[in-house]
Amino acid sequence: MSVKNLPYFVSGSVIKGFGRGSKSLGIPTANLEDKVVDALPGDLDNGVYYGWASLNGEVHKMVASIGWNPFYKNEKKTVEVHFLHKFENDFYGKQIKVIFTDYIRPEKDFTSEVDLIKAINNDIAIAEEKLEQPDMNVYKSDKFLLE
Ligand SMILES: Cc1cc2nc3c(=O)[nH]c(=O)nc-3n(C[C@H](O)[C@H](O)[C@H](O)COP(=O)(O)O)c2cc1C
Repeated sequence: MSVKNLPYFVSGSVIKGFGRGSKSLGIPTANLEDKVVDALPGDLDNGVYYGWASLNGEVHKMVASIGWNPFYKNEKKTVEVHFLHKFENDFYGKQIKVIFTDYIRPEKDFTSEVDLIKAINNDIAIAEEKLEQPDMNVYKSDKFLLE
C-alpha cells in the first residue's frame, strides 16, 4: 500500500484521451494535461487512487488512474479522473482541481473489458464509502478545491 506523497494536490486542464472511457467502458474520464503528468513526483506510485475533485468550484468524489493502462498497452503515461457525478456536457479545456487522498491498488491487466469495468466499479464502491469517513471527508471542504 502506497501512502507516500499523499494527500497529493494538483490542478490542470482537461485534454482529450483516447475516448474509450465513455464509449467502450461507460466510465468517462477527464485526462489531465501533460504538464501535470510530467510534474508528478517520481516516487508517486502508478495505480488507482480516490479523493475529491472540483470543476467550477463544484466538489465531487472521484476515482483516478495514474499510469499506462496495461489493459490497453498505452505508450504514454496518463492521469485520468473519473468524477462520481454525471455532468451534462464534456469539459475539455476546463481547469479541474484534484486531491488524491488515498491509494486503492496497482494498475492491472485484465483478460476482458468486462473484468476491467468490474474492477473500476469496485474502486468506485470503495471510494464512495471511504470518502464518507472523517479522515477523508475533511478534504471535501479544503480551500484548494474552492478557490
Ligand atoms: C478508477 C479507475 C481504475 C482503472 N484501472 C485500470 C486498470 O487496472 N488497468 C487498466 O489498464 N486501466 C485502468 N483504468 C484506465 C482505463 O483503462 C481508462 O480510463 C480507459 O481506457 C479510458 O481511457 P481514455 O480516456 O484515454 O479513452 C482505470 C481507470 C479508472 C478511472
